[in-house]
Amino acid sequence: MPDIRLFDGRDLRRVLGTFVTGVTVVTTTDDEGRFHGVTANSFSSVSLDPPLVLWSQAVKTHSHPVFFKAERFAVNILAEDQIELSKRFARSSQEKFAGIDVDIGSGGVPLLRGCSARLQCQVVSRVPGGDHTIYVGEVHAIDRAEQMPLLRWFSATADICWLIPTIWSTLDNRRIASKLNSPLCGSARGRSSVSSANSTRRWRSPSGALTVQRSPIGSRRQLL
Ligand SMILES: Cc1cc2nc3c(=O)[nH]c(=O)nc-3n(C[C@H](O)[C@H](O)[C@H](O)COP(=O)(O)O)c2cc1C
Repeated sequence: MPDIRLFDGRDLRRVLGTFVTGVTVVTTTDDEGRFHGVTANSFSSVSLDPPLVLWSQAVKTHSHPVFFKAERFAVNILAEDQIELSKRFARSSQEKFAGIDVDIGSGGVPLLRGCSARLQCQVVSRVPGGDHTIYVGEVHAIDRAEQMPLLRWFSATADICWLIPTIWSTLDNRRIASKLNSPLCGSARGRSSVSSANSTRRWRSPSGALTVQRSPIGSRRQLL
């Protein structure tokens, strides 16, 4: 490796941006019970057993002191029709949750509706990572809907960050599903298996337990 860095922050962003990610809104609550949330694409899985995930937050952001103190956070993995939510939670504002219906998770942490999936986590470590803090959380509850996820990609040629619906949405999902034999691909666009807030849902927890629960995730129609 050369001693002198031959790239600047802009170059690094462009290179990192070629790694396509999903988009999440990480949420928590403060001591007074106020909701906080930030758009984050630094989310990543860490371990299945125990179930661990991480995300990182810029130290200079307004909500950093709140997240740093919080014992819990939730990762809301945005669906392809939630671009507006990703923009809303990327801006500093006291009003991020205004007019949004949320479910309340354990510890009072708000959970966004209409997401592709949600994970509720207990913080197990806060690791300094340069100008960011890395939060590692143990996952204690999960749920998901068959909404296709929103994707983020940085185009170096256009020098612009794209938020795009998943590419599957432009294809015939049923045709792909029959090839992949995947239940997740099996629903046609707009025909989610979550048709109402009262739907019954089954999933396996990371520990392997099969859970059947009335779905807390709202349908696309409820969000809009
Ligand atoms: C697509 C996208 C991904 C982002 N990912 C992160 C991230 O992983 N970590 C982070 O600290 N900020 C990230 N941001 C910026 C934060 O969303 C933004 O700084 C934050 O919402 C500011 O809110 P606050 O002032 O209430 O803290 C991202 C923004 C966008 C648009």
